[in-house]
Amino acid sequence: MVDAIYIHIPFCIRKCGYCDFLSFQSNEIEREKYINKLINEIKLYPKIKYDTIYFGGGTPSILKIEEIEKILKELSFDENSEITLEVNPKTVDKEKLKGLKKIGINRLSIGIQTFNQEFLKKLGRIHNIDDGINTYKMAREVGFKNISLDLMFSLPGQNIDDVEKDLDKLFLLNPEHFSIYSLIWEEGTLFYEKLLKGEYKETDNSLEADMYQMIIEKSKEQGYIHYEISNFCKEGKEAKHNTKYWKNQEYIGVGLGASGYYQNIRYKNFSNFEDYYDRIEKGLLPREDIEKVSEDEKEEYRHLVGLRLLKEGILESSDKKFYKIYNKLLKDGYLKKIESNGEIRYILTEKGLFLANEVFEEFV
Ligand SMILES: C[S@@+](CC[C@H](N)C(=O)[O-])C[C@H]1O[C@@H](n2cnc3c(N)ncnc32)[C@H](O)[C@@H]1O
Ligand code: SF4
Repeated sequence: MVDAIYIHIPFCIRKCGYCDFLSFQSNEIEREKYINKLINEIKLYPKIKYDTIYFGGGTPSILKIEEIEKILKELSFDENSEITLEVNPKTVDKEKLKGLKKIGINRLSIGIQTFNQEFLKKLGRIHNIDDGINTYKMAREVGFKNISLDLMFSLPGQNIDDVEKDLDKLFLLNPEHFSIYSLIWEEGTLFYEKLLKGEYKETDNSLEADMYQMIIEKSKEQGYIHYEISNFCKEGKEAKHNTKYWKNQEYIGVGLGASGYYQNIRYKNFSNFEDYYDRIEKGLLPREDIEKVSEDEKEEYRHLVGLRLLKEGILESSDKKFYKIYNKLLKDGYLKKIESNGEIRYILTEKGLFLANEVFEEFV
């Protein structure tokens, strides 16, 4: 039974130079229209009691409290549900954070990216170092007890010291959870253009591996559990919602361009407002792509996402075709076999973790 929903808010104040997430600049009227259509889309789904609700973007924190509240009113949940909202510093003040808490948001994911002013500028972020830190502190002051911070590394011109300093600043704040992503050079972004022109250079692989190794070691020293390739948390503070993706559980996705996995179907909504609105006005689900998931595909996908969970990994498949792959990866030292409670599971070894993409390729 599905119990998770992802809600896409495709608006940002300004596009960051590296980002290809689906988001646009907008005015209040456009946002209001969007919220109304989004609510109509939610109404097309059965009333479900949600264990996790995730507002992602874009920048969901750009919305007014009343708009977020209006969406939440359409959803059923209780005080144990995890309700996350992505926050971009500079789009919230203390009053707004108070409001978010009041309407039921109980987990924030704050896009810090770096605590270095030079890199913040390079990334094209709208916030400065103090904005990031103050947003976090204000969130604590108004009572948020579950906060995640997003960092990025392997930025053009960044050295291992820079990353270490970012981590030190993050540890001083002591969030329950953080994600740290190595920069992906996405086609069509300003960064990609600069890469092609030779203005920016990719970090070489061995330096990126050293950065990642340092991140893993330092985080462990600070008492963080490295539970997913790019995610770290204090004991019991794993992201409940995202963990469902990694466990290949179904979830509903609503909003422009949102993906979902529901009733054995993987789908993606229209990414342009015109078609998205048009389908909803006709009372139809605004889906552009629909793919029925076969048992084989489900098993493949379960391996691909499940191995990202570093402690749990994946349960051994009953489908014999996977045994050859397991054996090869075991022999090459990429996987480790663990047995507990009569179950056989596979997890990535350290070697497998550093070459995770190569491991995943074996399963497709
Ligand atoms: C939707 S954004 C988070 C919320 C908000 N829009 C913000 O940026 O503060 C999700 C996260 O993806 C990461 N991200 C975006 N583009 C990326 C890229 N090209 N490479 C690596 N990480 C990226 C950033 O860390 C970002 O915080
Ligand atoms: S990183 Fe966040 S704030 Fe920047 S453009 Fe992407 S979604 Fe918007």
